[in-house]
Amino acid sequence: MSDPCTILIFGATGNLVQLKLLPALYRLDAAERLHARTRLIGFGRRAWSDAQWRDQIRAQLSERLGAGLDPQVLARLLDRAHFVEGDVEEEGGYARLAERLQGDEGMPANLMTYLAVAPKHYGGIVDRLAAQGLNGENGSWSRLVVEKPFGFDLESAAMLERRIHQCFDESQIYRIDHYLGKSTVQNILVFRFANLLLEPLWNRNYIDHVQISHAESSGIAERAGFYDGVGALRDMIQSHLLQMLTLVAMEPPPCLDAEALRDEKVKVLRSIRPIPHAAVHAHAFRAQYGPGTAGSERVPGYRDEPGVGRHSTTETYAAVKLYLDNWRWRNVPFYLRTGKRLAGHHSLIAIRFKHPPQQLFRDTPIERLKPNWLLLNIQPNECIRLEIQVKQPGLEMRTQTERLDASRCTIPAEQISAYEALLLDVITGDHTHFLRFDEVDWAWRVVDPILKRWASERDFIHTYPAGSAGPPEANRLFDRDDQVWREGLDD
Ligand code: BG6
Repeated sequence: MSDPCTILIFGATGNLVQLKLLPALYRLDAAERLHARTRLIGFGRRAWSDAQWRDQIRAQLSERLGAGLDPQVLARLLDRAHFVEGDVEEEGGYARLAERLQGDEGMPANLMTYLAVAPKHYGGIVDRLAAQGLNGENGSWSRLVVEKPFGFDLESAAMLERRIHQCFDESQIYRIDHYLGKSTVQNILVFRFANLLLEPLWNRNYIDHVQISHAESSGIAERAGFYDGVGALRDMIQSHLLQMLTLVAMEPPPCLDAEALRDEKVKVLRSIRPIPHAAVHAHAFRAQYGPGTAGSERVPGYRDEPGVGRHSTTETYAAVKLYLDNWRWRNVPFYLRTGKRLAGHHSLIAIRFKHPPQQLFRDTPIERLKPNWLLLNIQPNECIRLEIQVKQPGLEMRTQTERLDASRCTIPAEQISAYEALLLDVITGDHTHFLRFDEVDWAWRVVDPILKRWASERDFIHTYPAGSAGPPEANRLFDRDDQVWREGLDD
């Protein structure tokens, strides 16, 4: 059983809390993984009483979990919930918070503070928490969970890091990237390091290239305030996609503790070849969705979404080509791409192997000759699939592709959400699936030259129709004509 603690959430009325954190806390409570004395404090500008916050939680969970909601678990969770009114930028709320935390005997002194607000507020919140002595000076633990993006670029990330460190020690900081909590992402480590079979092939001699794609059919919903000006490169590639790249490319760590694992991931990020300013166009592509469809519905283009500037050139699609200058991967391209309002909805790591050195089966027309692919599907279905060539039935010596599935490719990925796993890690004090600052820093170094170049070219951006496969111009990143995007597991 975990420690009793108070979970304090800044941004309690926001999107992340509604969509992810409350359902995760509910499920942890349902699985009896929260200590019986756990309390939850929402902090926000609304003048809500505890009862009003509880009504909100009830409504949000009913909307998300519907008929699956267990009234007993819900009642237990609501009992734990309190609300403190305050503006993150004003002292008053923090004094009320301290009073509530210290004045209520039932409130556990261990404190998990979750920053689910816009990153521009992180510094101020941390200073004010420390001013109230809520940064762990009283003998209990105080842990700080910082959402991505950590900073806005290389420089601002370093400044933020310095500011947080004035009040919190590294052992208290949990920089969250929820992809590291997905069981399918964690499965990359198991698949690579619990099997001997692939290791001899896992290098530049056998692998042609690697693709890491995340496609979403949804748009930006009500998130314009966050998204416009941030864009797909910062939102997805700097964090989630580069993290997946590190897990695919890293060397085996000596053990699975947090430092050993993160040391290896940093080595991968450090080995990524810097993209010179003049070469940005050859290595990166951006675009924005225009009007189109989502299923059978007509949907507006990005610039017509509520809250988005009419002339915004924020990218909703980004693709990059990266090389890793190290022994294992030199000259193997890693293609990363992500987009909103695309035809499909999936996250896929696709590893293409080279062709055999000699083509013996001449009856197979050259254009039908297929390489082996290894597909690690992160979502919606958890799947590891190897595509291999076998003989077609019949008299001819022709080949055809067969699929070897190593897991349940037709079943939706495990219902344990990434946030459940990661919240529990914070409560138990495990940093393994959280980012160390040097990972964040090196990831910014990878994308910073692209951001700078794009920032200087703000008057034009390619577009693609909502609901399409994305902009065909992104294909210019490929090194050869026979390299093409894999559009999902079954493509
Ligand atoms: C978030 C991004 O970090 O990840 C969102 O800010 C994105 O824009 C989301 O939609 C994707 O996460 P998931 O778990 O739904 O694949």
